[in-house]
Amino acid sequence: MKILHISAECYPAAKAGGLGDVVGALPKYLNNAGVETAVIIPKHRTKWLNAQSCREIMQGSVRLGMNYMPYTIEECLNDSLGFKLYVVSCPQFFDRTGIYTDENGTGFRDDVERWLTFQQAVIHWIMGLKTQPKVLHCHDHHTGLIPFMIKFCPEYKSLAQIPTVFTIHNGQYQGMFSWQMGQLMPFYDAEASGMLEWKGAINPMASAIKCCWRFTTVSKGYMEELRNDSGGLEWLMDNERPKSIGILNGIDNQVWDPSTDPMVGFQLQEDVAEFKNENKKIICERFGLRSDLPLITFIGRIVAEKGADLMPEVIGQFLSRGGAASFAILGTGDPSVSDAFARMAFRFNGTFGVSLEYNETLSHQLYAGSDFLMMPSRVEPCGLNQMYAQRYGTVPIVRSVGGLRDTVVDFATSSEGSGIRFSAFSADDFSFAIVRAMRLYWDEPQKFSALRQYITTIDNSWEKSTNDYVNIYSQLAVLKIKENS
Ligand code: GLC
Repeated sequence: MKILHISAECYPAAKAGGLGDVVGALPKYLNNAGVETAVIIPKHRTKWLNAQSCREIMQGSVRLGMNYMPYTIEECLNDSLGFKLYVVSCPQFFDRTGIYTDENGTGFRDDVERWLTFQQAVIHWIMGLKTQPKVLHCHDHHTGLIPFMIKFCPEYKSLAQIPTVFTIHNGQYQGMFSWQMGQLMPFYDAEASGMLEWKGAINPMASAIKCCWRFTTVSKGYMEELRNDSGGLEWLMDNERPKSIGILNGIDNQVWDPSTDPMVGFQLQEDVAEFKNENKKIICERFGLRSDLPLITFIGRIVAEKGADLMPEVIGQFLSRGGAASFAILGTGDPSVSDAFARMAFRFNGTFGVSLEYNETLSHQLYAGSDFLMMPSRVEPCGLNQMYAQRYGTVPIVRSVGGLRDTVVDFATSSEGSGIRFSAFSADDFSFAIVRAMRLYWDEPQKFSALRQYITTIDNSWEKSTNDYVNIYSQLAVLKIKENS
């Protein structure tokens, strides 16, 4: 293997959000481009992983302070992914129903131990490989200490020359922990402690930015935003600018193909309108909604970052004033917003439906059957849902932020419009965007149908961005030769 991706998630093995989608798709596209790529994740308790045959290839243990935590590395014997998948099995830390939280949405209290174990198990395994990867590609803070560890931990220094790439999918979670908990770390050169620290704590995301060879964000717009506002990392982001690059995520066009998607009730043949209408009927029946109205959907985690808290107010006002649309919500998250949705389903019976679950199949059906998709995000590093929506002929209504701004052009400003945008994070601006959607749908049906026809043809696939990653990897391989000579 030339490139090893190290991540907490990888679709279809384990997915909580977009990180899983990216790590399940990019490696496949890299392999197709001739760059041999593998992935390693923790062995979470998921249906997909339970059903796999895995072969144990290594056993070891990680020191956590005074204790040793045993683990095994396993290879998944599955040829259908498009890349080799390895897992770190450590049941005490990862054989749990959630990837990051328990059933009630509460984060795990032993996260520091969990991710320290995972990262070191991966390092041990790489050290024992006959041929080592040419680049280690780490994703988000869960893998953010690897660049530090291979540079500054004496026991891991044999890997110090392997270039590291770090991708920020979500700068809001930085994995900080106190110096007191630092005794759980492997031994490291004392003078290197500054490379771990940010604002008085050990900060894996900051450490990754300092120690990696290159870091990327999942859109160009998000890189700019992080330089202005990144929960305290602004100065660091700016200082390390020379090794940074924003690369827009793509989507997996094989998984997200409306003409072959096995999860949707009615596949796209020639006619986009027919595809939409047939799928809308199925969805409206499932949610108990009127199908003679435009259907507006939200799919995703019900959290503040995604602007979920704006929706009860905005949708509630719209419907109580007699607005002519139906709404469907799919996702899990914040209990208070979820409760508000549940009450609305009761109050607006027939025009508001909600399914408080994570359901991949239903999400495909919703993209296929909806007219509009709402993404009122406060923060959106890239966002994949707007791209899935476009491919399935669903017009995205997005707040102009991060990757949403990079992928959605307002239909009123360009002949290549691909959605509806609004600027301020406010109920007023969001409401007005919905009003604009309604005018388009009811008053300009031809324009609406041309728009949705057009967006199904936009190429958002990984093929475009894969090259940018290949370029980074090849630059790094060159850098490495230079450093050694
Ligand atoms: C995170 C971000 C999302 C991005 C995804 C994949 O989930 O919140 O915007 O699309 O990672 O990079």
